[in-house]
Amino acid sequence: MPQELPLKILVIGGGGREHALVWALSRSAHTDILCVPGNPGIATLARTLPIPVTDRAAIVQLALAERPALVVIGPELPLSLGLTDALQHHGLRVFGPTRDAAMLETSKSFAKEFMRRHEIPTAAHAVCTALAEVAEELPRFQTPVVVKADGLAAGKGVLIANSHAEALAAARGLFDGTLTGAPETTLVLEQFLTGEEISFFALCDGTTALPLAAAQDHKRIGEGDTGPNTGGMGAVSTDRLLPPALQATLAAIAQRTVDGMRSEGTPFTGVLFVGVMLTPLGPMVLEFNTRFGDPETEALLLRLETPLLDLLNAAVDGFPPGFAPSLSRDASASVILASAGYPASAEKGQRITGLETVPATLDPTAVHVFHCGTAEGNSGELVTAGGRVLAVATAAETLEAALGKIYAAVDRLHFPGMQLRRDIGHRVLTKPT
Ligand code: AMP
Ligand code: GLY
Repeated sequence: MPQELPLKILVIGGGGREHALVWALSRSAHTDILCVPGNPGIATLARTLPIPVTDRAAIVQLALAERPALVVIGPELPLSLGLTDALQHHGLRVFGPTRDAAMLETSKSFAKEFMRRHEIPTAAHAVCTALAEVAEELPRFQTPVVVKADGLAAGKGVLIANSHAEALAAARGLFDGTLTGAPETTLVLEQFLTGEEISFFALCDGTTALPLAAAQDHKRIGEGDTGPNTGGMGAVSTDRLLPPALQATLAAIAQRTVDGMRSEGTPFTGVLFVGVMLTPLGPMVLEFNTRFGDPETEALLLRLETPLLDLLNAAVDGFPPGFAPSLSRDASASVILASAGYPASAEKGQRITGLETVPATLDPTAVHVFHCGTAEGNSGELVTAGGRVLAVATAAETLEAALGKIYAAVDRLHFPGMQLRRDIGHRVLTKPT
């Protein structure tokens, strides 16, 4: 019998999300995974190569040399630079949207105008390209009003203003570059919404949006949702987040988005991450992301019953009739361990200890430590190398059980200045059922 050749997969990215993606892909037999640039955690499961995710030419060159059967793009930055387009140009199979389809995430004005064109429920908005326009539009908005930079701003481009004067000052800071470090040419003003914030993930093949799961991130650094915004300090995924009727509404929103993109000549293939506010008037879309969320993915993938590789392949080839991802009905969670100073800064090079107490395994109900920002120190020891350092995650029959296992493991992990929230999941856990 000829031996089955391993299936080569190239994963782009080097954070906790990509560690979880590589872990889930490695559960399929006969895979040979390469990851760019990867990290020390990923390096235990895949070959890693130190190429920056923004180096499109080098990644294309690598892909042409290695000829992977599938390329999976994790972060938004390479999507915004057209990495999918460049790889597809050479005949490679890519999971991740083209540059034009990624505009649902990379341009907030595009996303808002798209939602208006396709009657997708969202907050009232105005697109402004000059301060005078902001001053003219502001009286139409009640306070608080949200002022957003148009492009990717790594969480720094959204400001909530309690008065019109504050909104005008925020707009000035975005236009002149003092707020994000680079001057913005386009802003979006948006009506402030109140309610519960949920992330909804759908897998898309250009024609169909298949619901994956809902998750809830915890964006603020402090317990009780206080303090500055971060990339996310932990996430939960459970069916308790969404009653079935709401789940159907969000699935319909994802499908309408995919239909709209296809009708505009920019079909969407990849993960559509719909950020939603559950308002008293019904769900309203806050934003689209065109990739897996971080730290939602570290939790969500642990609930997946269909092999991730089968899901991504089906999305790239077009879903066969009757295809549907299968998720366990139980719950999962991820808790981020962050560096001192995060989110304003990040103290790096601190030694991480205790990892040997959480052994690596393919079992989703064991506790996993996904590496977000780690590096190998001078003598081979593991050190911190970013704001978010580790994501500790597991799945269990209940959210309470999952969180109990995670926090027990967290108590065995350490690095100087380690910050974490001990209240991940508090909104779901205190919600009346
Ligand atoms: P975005 O990148 O557009 O999702 O904005 C980042 C965060 O700002 C969201 O996750 C919300 O917490 C908050 N936000 C954005 N838009 C609004 C809005 N219209 N009303 C209330 N909060 C908002
Ligand atoms: N957790 C939010 C994001 O991935 O954008």
